[in-house]
Amino acid sequence: SINHILLTGGVGSRLWPLSRKSRPKQYLEIFSENSLFELAVKRNLPFCDKLVVVGNKSNRNLSAASLEKAGLTEYIDIVEATPRNTAPAIAFAAFSAQSEDILLVTPADHIIQEGPEYSIAVQKAIQLAQENNIVTFGIQPTKPETGFGYIEYRDETVLSFREKPNEETAKDFLKQGKFLWNSGMFCFKTGIFLEELKKYSPEVYKASLDAWQKAKDGNLEEESSLEIPAISIDYAVMEKSEKIKVVPSNFEWSDMGSFEAVYDYLKEQGHPVDDSGNMVIGSEKFSAFVGLQDSILVCTPDANLVLSREQSQDVKKVYQFLENEN
Ligand code: GDD
Ligand code: MG
Repeated sequence: SINHILLTGGVGSRLWPLSRKSRPKQYLEIFSENSLFELAVKRNLPFCDKLVVVGNKSNRNLSAASLEKAGLTEYIDIVEATPRNTAPAIAFAAFSAQSEDILLVTPADHIIQEGPEYSIAVQKAIQLAQENNIVTFGIQPTKPETGFGYIEYRDETVLSFREKPNEETAKDFLKQGKFLWNSGMFCFKTGIFLEELKKYSPEVYKASLDAWQKAKDGNLEEESSLEIPAISIDYAVMEKSEKIKVVPSNFEWSDMGSFEAVYDYLKEQGHPVDDSGNMVIGSEKFSAFVGLQDSILVCTPDANLVLSREQSQDVKKVYQFLENEN
């Protein structure tokens, strides 16, 4: 069967105060009347036989409510006791499947334009996965973003995979023109993924399997989960495997990872920006910026944030500060 593995364990700390621990960004109906989570489920339904939701225990009710709203009651629910990043999360989904099953792994928090370009890319990825490849989706880069993985490619062949390069390297990659951004979606056979994980990150494989064997009904327990190294699939497998292929893709894609990405997306949608590039998010009140350029004011009922668009990655620090306060 073809399983949609929906990763929804992130808290979206870089989108505080829109995104909260109690309601992470993928559950917010801020970009359309459907949440990003719901959109991700619906977008992939046509290609898959089963849905597997991998999230954590604090998100579980939000996921269940979103799925009920979408009319989906049959799905496999994998509930993490503590976040261990994406390599273990995907390993759990793989342990719940058969070795020949195809896994289409997607984040729950991206904006992707569904339509023919998306269908073509997913169908191509499924075909390459049937041929025992580990498939990534490549997006044409537009700036030296350091928060993404970069795929050096020639047609479908991947020459190298580099997760989150520093700024200098990212600039160089952009100049070379032979790199695509990793979209954060993957497609592979269960058995192939587990073989590669075991080969290149044996500790992650072993600790994940051990925790999975102790899990009850897809509910991971905390003690064995804490033994698993917290590492992303990008570092654990993608940078190392020689079975990687890429589907260069043309669908519209935005990782709503930071306010910079949200700003770019909203601006394109026609959301107002003043003459100095300042934007208000979340308030209808008249607001003015004096002496500021490219700033963002984010308003919510109980917290506001003012930031320089360029410093969007640092919002995480506010989130961490508040976490430590409580
Ligand atoms: N279940 C679960 N458990 N999900 C998780 C966990 C976890 O411990 N950690 C992260 N996720 C989910 C997030 O909610 C998100 O949907 C997805 O997995 C990816 O995690 P991120 O933390 O957002 O990764 P990233 O943005 O730093 O990097 C990845 O995505 C980029 C594109 O957006 C990488 O794959 C990059 O290479 C890629 O360019
Ligand atoms: Mg992300």
